[in-house]
Order: sequence, then structure tokens, then C-alpha cells
Amino acid sequence: MTSIASFQVKYIVHADSSSLDSADLSLINEVREICKSAYAPYSHFRVGALALMGDLSRIHGTNQENASYPIGLCAERVLLAAVSSIAPQQSILTMAISYESDLIDSKSPVAPCGICRQSLVEFESRFNHPMRLLLTGKTGEIFELSSVSDLLPFAFKHYHLGK
Ligand code: THU
Repeated sequence: MTSIASFQVKYIVHADSSSLDSADLSLINEVREICKSAYAPYSHFRVGALALMGDLSRIHGTNQENASYPIGLCAERVLLAAVSSIAPQQSILTMAISYESDLIDSKSPVAPCGICRQSLVEFESRFNHPMRLLLTGKTGEIFELSSVSDLLPFAFKHYHLGK
């Protein structure tokens, strides 16, 4: 017997920041500023990621590039490493991610790359708590997802290793 399975991802599209509640608006305003401090002299694509922690504190990260291109790090994984070092017992309630670019307009939301999705799913599984995502650019739409696992169906997880 065979069957068809499918995934469905539902997310909220905010046309702009005017429909956000005050807590999310504050995260979006802050993450749009954080992008400016990224170290991205090669791509000129500056990404910021901001975590709202379980105790309501905030920790941020930015992308860190290198003349040896492959060793550059995305903002999301810089942030996860910081969170795991500074607040190793705490889950992330919401992660807001934004970017700005010298080369293109920055009006459509950014989405984490594949490697970052795997890292984000590991973090979510570790705390067994959904991590909400707010994805945006310098201006324009904001996508709101209720869990990072929505971004990575068939993620490789601890149980595949028997852990
Ligand atoms: N980048 C991030 O920091 N996060 C993403 O979600 C996508 C890409 C960075 C990596 C690199 O420094 C630059 O953006 C261009 O790819």
C-alpha cells in the first residue's frame, strides 16, 4: 500500500510593521538597527538576528565574513553560539532576522540558509520549545512563523542517531 503525505506551512504575512503588537514592533525596530553593525565587507549584505530569551532579555548576532570566504558565519549561527554561551539554560521565544544590502533593495524578508535551518532546529529540539520567527528586511513585509521546524521538513535529528 502507498499513500501521499504532505507538509503544510502556515505563516502570517504582515504588510508592514504597523500591524505588529508593541513587543514585536520593538524587536523589528531593533533588529533593523543591528544589521548595521554586521561585518560584511565582501557581500555588502548585512544580516542581523535578535533573540528574545525566555527571561525576556535580548541577545543579538550579525554575519561575520572573512577574506577566506567559506569561513564566514551567518548572523543566525553567530547568535545561536552567543546564546548557548551566555544563557545556556534558556530557550529562545522569538528570533527576529533582518538585513540590508548596498547592492539590492532590502524590501523582501530574508530567510535563513539551509545550514542555519539545521542549527535552528537543533536549538529548538534541545529546549523542546517552539522558537517563533519574525523575518523581514529594511522595510516592507514581515513574515511570522510559529516554529523554526516549519522551515526544515525532514530535519536530521538526535533520534536518527539513537540519542
Ligand atoms: N547570511 C546570513 O547571515 N544569514 C542568512 O540568513 C543568509 C546569508 C550572510 C552570509 C554572508 O555573510 C552574506 O549573508 C551573504 O550571503
